[in-house]
Amino acid sequence: MSADILITGASQVLTLLGSSPRRGNSLSKLEIVKDGAVLVKAGQIAAVGERGRVAALAEARSAQEIDVDGRVVLPGFVDSHTHLVHAASRAEEYELKIQVASYEEIARKGGGILNSVKKLRAATAEALKHRALAALEEFASYGTTTVEAKSGYGLDVASELKILALHRELQEAQPLEIVSTFLGAHVVPLEFRGKSSGAERYIRILLEQMLPEVVNERLAEFCDVFCDRGAFTRAQSKQILSEGKLHGLTPRLHAEQLSRTGATQLAVDLEAASCDHLEQVNAADIRALAESDTVATLLPGCDFHLGLKQYAPARKLIDAGAIVALATDYNPGTSPTMSMPMILSLACTQLRMTPAEAICAATINAAYALRRAERIGSLEKGKQADLTVFEVEDYREIPYYFGMNRCWLTMKRGEIVYQRD
Ligand code: NIG
Ligand code: FE
Repeated sequence: MSADILITGASQVLTLLGSSPRRGNSLSKLEIVKDGAVLVKAGQIAAVGERGRVAALAEARSAQEIDVDGRVVLPGFVDSHTHLVHAASRAEEYELKIQVASYEEIARKGGGILNSVKKLRAATAEALKHRALAALEEFASYGTTTVEAKSGYGLDVASELKILALHRELQEAQPLEIVSTFLGAHVVPLEFRGKSSGAERYIRILLEQMLPEVVNERLAEFCDVFCDRGAFTRAQSKQILSEGKLHGLTPRLHAEQLSRTGATQLAVDLEAASCDHLEQVNAADIRALAESDTVATLLPGCDFHLGLKQYAPARKLIDAGAIVALATDYNPGTSPTMSMPMILSLACTQLRMTPAEAICAATINAAYALRRAERIGSLEKGKQADLTVFEVEDYREIPYYFGMNRCWLTMKRGEIVYQRD
């Protein structure tokens, strides 16, 4: 059990107290305590508030004090969309994308996701684990305390299960929380292409062979589909997600990234936990999201990395009342970053979100997208002590600085998991 800790000396504690999820105006409410303190006991937050009051509590007396000397304390980032387990970078495609071919052209020629599938199938579980562990350490170094992780670079029974089993192993091997998602429907694998009804035959294997294993072994909590041009159709996505839901996997969806497919309405109809990307949404999609509890998760790292000009219409989504979250989409093809602060910088400059909105979107709303808002995403009594301390005096400096790391300390369940030298 972790020692009791009293964090003092914060210029600002961003508590984010209040009802979740945050929509519209409430997305910018950080509920800041100046000169604040946080008391951590048995991995949970025992008290948060003004320093004098918290430090005077009887339970604070025996706690070890960490004076953060004017820095800013906030909830740990919840990264609700990553493709954590993959074998290698795709830097060769990055160069091609700059010089000659688009992401979709490269994918059509057998590169893209299929390139990563080939590499993953050839990799040992040990090599994959080693790479993922290094990535998780880096996530923590940028203030992230919870990481959703999708399969989807295996695309055969053994390889998909290898990834999902690894999610479980990683959970036991390191302190960050891993939330496992089954993305067997990332794209149709090569061996099913070029033949009639190849996609249907692959979906049958997914539903009849992969899904039962995933469910029986409890290898995932969510089921995701990449619904797009070059991936799965809306009808196929509906079939897969409905079957997953029937077996207890909550749906989430890659929607309207490269083309508009109507996946957003499908996500809402299926009461999906989230609907992610959304660059191509139209007014009806925005309305549907605003009237639903499905989180609109925006991934501006993809557009930045691919050099695309069209970002998701964050302002319209927020102003309409949708629940907006932000995530890295850490993956080798469209968003090779573990840095949530970089995503906040992009959210501010490209999505026109304010720093306060971006922080709420990356913490409490992201926790809601992972169905964990009761336990994480804000700093309040009784919640898990997942927090991060940034080397800034004012929270607006978190997205203001970019391409450099101002994270000073990260705590998961009351344990320090990263501290700058
Ligand atoms: O979220 N869009 C689908 N999946 C990933 C990209 C995966 C890849 O290119 O390897 C994404 O952008
Ligand atoms: Fe993704």
